[in-house]
Amino acid sequence: MDAIVAVDLAWGIGYRDDLLFRIKADLKRFKEMTSGQIVILGRKTLATFPGGRPLPSRINLVVSRNRSLEINGATVCHNREEVLAAVARHPDKHVYVIGGSSIYREFLPDCHRVYVTRIHRQQQADTYFPNLDEMPAWQCVLTEPDLEENGLVFNYRVYEKVDA
Ligand SMILES: NC(=O)c1ccc[n+]([C@@H]2O[C@H](COP(=O)([O-])OP(=O)(O)OC[C@H]3O[C@@H](n4cnc5c(N)ncnc54)[C@H](OP(=O)(O)O)[C@@H]3O)[C@@H](O)[C@H]2O)c1
Repeated sequence: MDAIVAVDLAWGIGYRDDLLFRIKADLKRFKEMTSGQIVILGRKTLATFPGGRPLPSRINLVVSRNRSLEINGATVCHNREEVLAAVARHPDKHVYVIGGSSIYREFLPDCHRVYVTRIHRQQQADTYFPNLDEMPAWQCVLTEPDLEENGLVFNYRVYEKVDA
């Protein structure tokens, strides 16, 4: 299981239930990486998608405590155990944790890699990803060259969990 996240300089990921940035190239890369695979997301993150609909061409596991919630095109999981059981039913698929902050926090211990898009700007935020640079269990193993889109400079990084 891996996580994918876009963070600003302070590891901010969202503000008022929306993303901080929309970078076309990053969204395209996200789609390419996750298509055909499993994505795990919180109910609030689902609400940020176009029409509040699950992502096409992916197995969407939406986490919610609401037992009466039904979502066309997604499997609703009510806790961590249900998520892990659903994941186990698709051993051939790669699994990506795609947010938001509560889901990242809950599943980070299960992740081996985190694909970080690091935007070189600090934006007002109210939700954060754990600062992996301050966590000895995580090591940045790849930093790609800077890219730029509409004046936003960003780069891709890969963090891996250090073997205990
Ligand atoms: N920058 C990025 O890469 C990125 C990626 C994704 C999201 N985001 C941002 O992150 C923000 C949303 O994050 P968030 O933490 O507020 O919301 P979230 O994690 O997307 O969703 C929270 C919801 O998930 C459900 N949930 C969480 N833990 C659960 C558990 N243990 N068992 C059952 N249900 C559980 C609850 O749903 P119910 O209330 O239905 O019970 C909870 O209200 C937004 O601003 C979004 O744009 C950023």
